[in-house]
This record gives sequence, C-alpha cells and structure tokens, in this order.
Amino acid sequence: MSEHAIELTLNGQRRSAGVEARTSLADYLRLGAGCTGVHLGCEHGVCGACTVMVDGRAVRSCLMLAVQADGCAVTTVEGLAAPDGTFHPVQQAMREAHGLQCGFCTPGVLMTFAALTGGEAKASEEELVSAMSGHICRCTGYQGTRRAARALAEGTVGALAAGPGAAE
Ligand code: FES
Ligand code: FES
Repeated sequence: MSEHAIELTLNGQRRSAGVEARTSLADYLRLGAGCTGVHLGCEHGVCGACTVMVDGRAVRSCLMLAVQADGCAVTTVEGLAAPDGTFHPVQQAMREAHGLQCGFCTPGVLMTFAALTGGEAKASEEELVSAMSGHICRCTGYQGTRRAARALAEGTVGALAAGPGAAE
C-alpha cells in the first residue's frame, strides 16, 4: 500500500504524517492524530458528525482524503477553545442554550457554526438554522441548537446564562 508524506497545521500545530492514499481525513484525525472528537456516523457525507474546518471552511472529513489536506490548516473541536481553556463563542452558546444531549453530533455542529461565524463571517439565524439541516441529531435535540444559533446571530452569547428571557 502506497504511503504519502503530508504536512498540515492541526489545531495550530505543525504536523507531519505518513498516510495511505485511501485514508480519509476523518480516519487520520481520529486514529493518527488522536482527535477523537471527530465522530463518524454515516461515513458517506450525510450525518455531519465528522465535520471539521479546513482552511476556515466546514468540511465533511469522511469525504476528504488525508492526502488532500496536505498544506492545509485543519481545525477540529479539540482546537476550538483558547489555549487557556476559554470557550469559543459557539461552545459557550451551545452550553448556555442547553444544546448538548449525548453529544455525538455536537462537534460537527460546533465546527459548522464556527466556520459560519468566525472572523468576518456574520451568518444570520436563518443561515445557521439552514446549516443545521446538514447535521443529523439522533437525540432530536434541535431546539437547544436553534437557541444557540439565535444567540450567535444576535450577538447575545452570555445573555442566555443571565437568566430566563434575558436573550429573548
Ligand atoms: S460521518 Fe461524515 S457525514 Fe456522516
Ligand atoms: S446530541 Fe445526541 S446525536 Fe445529537
């Protein structure tokens, strides 16, 4: 089996690896890099659980080969929080809105929201809710996620934790 050398920036750290041509980015991240927050549900692009950011864009890591990530900046859920542990706004929003249940779908949702709200991006609530349609939650936990989407769109992350009605 042919092995290929790749170099990428993973969660801010430069990494070199040897991967087989057939290795998906998801398998490399989980098995080769220890990023087990990357969850695999369907393995064919439907469920969204494996979503990571590649060069700032949300990508299904089960549909991308690891060799295609050569030279890219990849961010997984492990890389969202600041080095001192401060939550990323999407993590804070999901926490405040009780968007977590079993958590299997959650890393993918977080990465999609992060891609749509990071940097200059100013996604509307409609865009964020529409993006959720690419994520299957087996706990049917969409209501908390919708509240998180609203808080992110309205810039009220932090207010949800202040009490009932604070972000309404
Ligand atoms: S595991 Fe990649 S989309 Fe389902
Ligand atoms: S929280 Fe369980 S699958 Fe979504």
